[in-house]
Amino acid sequence: MNHFQADPPGFRVESGVEALGVRIAYEQMSDRAQPLSPLGRLYLWATHRLYNELAWSYDLAAWIVSAGRWDRWRRMALDYVAQQPVLEVGFGTGELLLAMAQRGWPAVGLDLSPAMQRQTTTKLRRRGLSIPRLQGRAQHLPFANESFGSVVSTFPAEYIVDPASLTEFRRVLRPGGRLIIAGLIVSLDVEWPAWRWLNRQVFGASSASPLQRVEQHSVVAGLSMQVLWRDDPPWRVPIILAERVP
Ligand SMILES: C[S@@+](CC[C@H](N)C(=O)[O-])C[C@H]1O[C@@H](n2cnc3c(N)ncnc32)[C@H](O)[C@@H]1O
Repeated sequence: MNHFQADPPGFRVESGVEALGVRIAYEQMSDRAQPLSPLGRLYLWATHRLYNELAWSYDLAAWIVSAGRWDRWRRMALDYVAQQPVLEVGFGTGELLLAMAQRGWPAVGLDLSPAMQRQTTTKLRRRGLSIPRLQGRAQHLPFANESFGSVVSTFPAEYIVDPASLTEFRRVLRPGGRLIIAGLIVSLDVEWPAWRWLNRQVFGASSASPLQRVEQHSVVAGLSMQVLWRDDPPWRVPIILAERVP
């Protein structure tokens, strides 16, 4: 049974995706409702503003909250890309897509926000580069099965703790391909109960950390996951590597 259809209404496809040998296909699915606390809803509201109306300020905000380290942490993901083409999910303002283009890697970007798409287009045009990008959801990837050697996600939004996203990442990865997630959390070398509490408010009622939840969903989806901790004193950045079990 073929339950894919190309180009659903309103879906914008940037040229060049199929030139990389990636077939576009779109599975119809419905969103899952995620019950959240009031603080979680406030956090989501604020981040949605940052990804949309305030997308122009995203790079500066990221630089400020990380004391200038955001881009260094984000680029750590590239050290683990072993196979191409690469799908970057939630590419934001396109810094990592730009880095991949400069290395000559075949890459495709997907992000939900049209405002982020515009920021990225402007950035790429200034450098005379073009990278295929699609607007879409991590939970409904518009690609055929086994399209990518790697899927990369840095500083992911809440889609990363949705089991539907992990199932989709596995589906579009080739056997032996790898999901790489950098910046899911960035931790100081201390255990902060208040931080754990805040995470629970934002990411849902589960007492498991976002890292544990991604691990649980990865295993269920058929990905074998390990976490490498990269030191950037006093910070520690987890890099999640999840391989598609053939
Ligand atoms: C925190 S930003 C990270 C941007 C960039 N990867 C970085 O390292 O700075 C999260 C991005 O995910 C996008 N996003 C949010 N929900 C999404 C979803 N369900 N599917 C795809 N992208 C999504 C947002 O539009 C935003 O650009």
